[in-house]
Amino acid sequence: MSDPHPITMTVNGQQRSAIVEPRKTLADVLREDMRLTGTHLACEHGVCGACTVLLDGEAVRSCLVFGVQADGAEVTTVEGIAPAPGELSDVQAAFRDCHGLQCGFCTPGFVVSITAFLEKNPAPTDEEIRSGLSGNLCRCTGYTGIVNAVRQVVRERAGGPPNGGAPAGDQPSEGPPTQGVPTIAGHAVTTLPSAP
Ligand code: FES
Ligand code: FES
Repeated sequence: MSDPHPITMTVNGQQRSAIVEPRKTLADVLREDMRLTGTHLACEHGVCGACTVLLDGEAVRSCLVFGVQADGAEVTTVEGIAPAPGELSDVQAAFRDCHGLQCGFCTPGFVVSITAFLEKNPAPTDEEIRSGLSGNLCRCTGYTGIVNAVRQVVRERAGGPPNGGAPAGDQPSEGPPTQGVPTIAGHAVTTLPSAP
């Protein structure tokens, strides 16, 4: 049962293959076998969201998915989020504009989670933004810049000006977005695929 298995995935638009042990997580396959180290690992047990990638369009925690479960799937990592090499997606640009990162370790997970979240909810309320972010943890920023980045993307996609954050007088309070929203088990943006 522990013999290595050949797997093939479409990763960031390119077909990639590897031979992996069944116990190896998708995160480790991406980082070690495919050298895509933009996907970060922190808690490695499904709590922090740093390892979030898109699996067939759904945000998943790649530390909780086995690589063999992704055989045949389409995977998008943070390296594949931008429209072209050398460019930033609007979510990435908004993080830069709104100071949505400090050390940046959590940022790939946030960028991928927010990309998926805005696909499903293109016009979220502040409460929905905070709930949507509740599955990703950041130890540096206090979340205000991250929430403002999401607001900027929403405004830009609606045809409004970026202006670097929330309107005056509409600033979210400091503190993690998990306050007042469902616990991490009920987070809105990360789902797990069913086992094959
Ligand atoms: S490293 Fe996967 S959720 Fe924390
Ligand atoms: S920017 Fe450092 S953990 Fe989020």
